[in-house]
Amino acid sequence: MLKTKLTELLGIEYPIFQGGMSWIADAKLAAAVSEGGGLGIIAASNAPVEVVREMVRETKSLTDKPFGVNIMLMSDNAPAVAQMVIDEQVAVVTTGAGNPGKYIEGWKAAGIKVIPVVPTVALARRMERAGADAVIAEGTEAGGHIGELTTMALVPQVADAVNIPVIAAGGIADARGVSAALMLGAEGVQLGTIFICAQESPAHPDYKQLVLDAKDTDTVVTGRANGHPVRSLKNKFTRRILEMEKADAGFEAIENATVGSYRKAVQDGNMEEGTFMSGQIAGMVKEIQPAAKIVGDLMASTEEYLKTFTEKRGITLG
Ligand SMILES: Cc1cc2nc3c(=O)[nH]c(=O)nc-3n(C[C@H](O)[C@H](O)[C@H](O)COP(=O)(O)O)c2cc1C
Repeated sequence: MLKTKLTELLGIEYPIFQGGMSWIADAKLAAAVSEGGGLGIIAASNAPVEVVREMVRETKSLTDKPFGVNIMLMSDNAPAVAQMVIDEQVAVVTTGAGNPGKYIEGWKAAGIKVIPVVPTVALARRMERAGADAVIAEGTEAGGHIGELTTMALVPQVADAVNIPVIAAGGIADARGVSAALMLGAEGVQLGTIFICAQESPAHPDYKQLVLDAKDTDTVVTGRANGHPVRSLKNKFTRRILEMEKADAGFEAIENATVGSYRKAVQDGNMEEGTFMSGQIAGMVKEIQPAAKIVGDLMASTEEYLKTFTEKRGITLG
């Protein structure tokens, strides 16, 4: 059984997180992942706090195992959700898009494990000093809002810089990816793109099909011009946004064109106006499977891979 400092810290069976994903990471998906031995994470996104509270309660009704809530710090609901996770005694909080420093003391006092997503060594260090229990080092390969550094370059540098466990995210979807993350110094992994295609994921069937059909070069980054880069699958809509960026259409025009486009992808599968956020690893996702099977198979294959890879790959040592 593969155990790391992270499984010990959180009392979970496997060192695998299902990343918070706006509109997708709901109670059913998070509970299925936690039941499968990983850590399911509900995405608070921009939802009203009472909606997120309901998701927390529903998850608790579906599993006794630990799960987390992901808070998007730039969202208007962040202060209310930050208090709600204390009131509802959520086990783990992950944060995206910013610095959760001002909330950390309150969460820690409530016994919540705090795990910010970081795109750089500097933020990882700052989070450790502020009292974070671990950090998720997310590379630019990931789907959704991204930083500049690759997982390969970021994870070992963060692992060297902090003494708390590091979770690697971005571009991981099989035993080789998990093994590589462990070798780079991570104590666990966070996966997003593969869980878009979990059976329990509420993503529109056409969204799932786009991920299943994607090849290695099918994602693109929009929003660099606005300072909010987002990785999603190439389509007519991303082409239009990139053209606007090239033509210097301006912050507001681009914001207006993109607002609501991700919801249109997740709920309606709208090919004309949808932003289908996805990571570069989509090319490796080929099946819709139950979330617990994704987690279980990944762990079993990683254990096998770590035990046998030198022999199987014909690598000789010494
Ligand atoms: C569709 C989608 C939505 C996402 N939404 C969020 C979010 O709301 N908050 C967050 O912190 N990260 C978000 N992420 C990032 C994931 O939590 C995770 O770190 C990332 O997907 C891992 O990389 P991968 O896509 O290569 O598996 C999202 C990713 C995807 C693909």
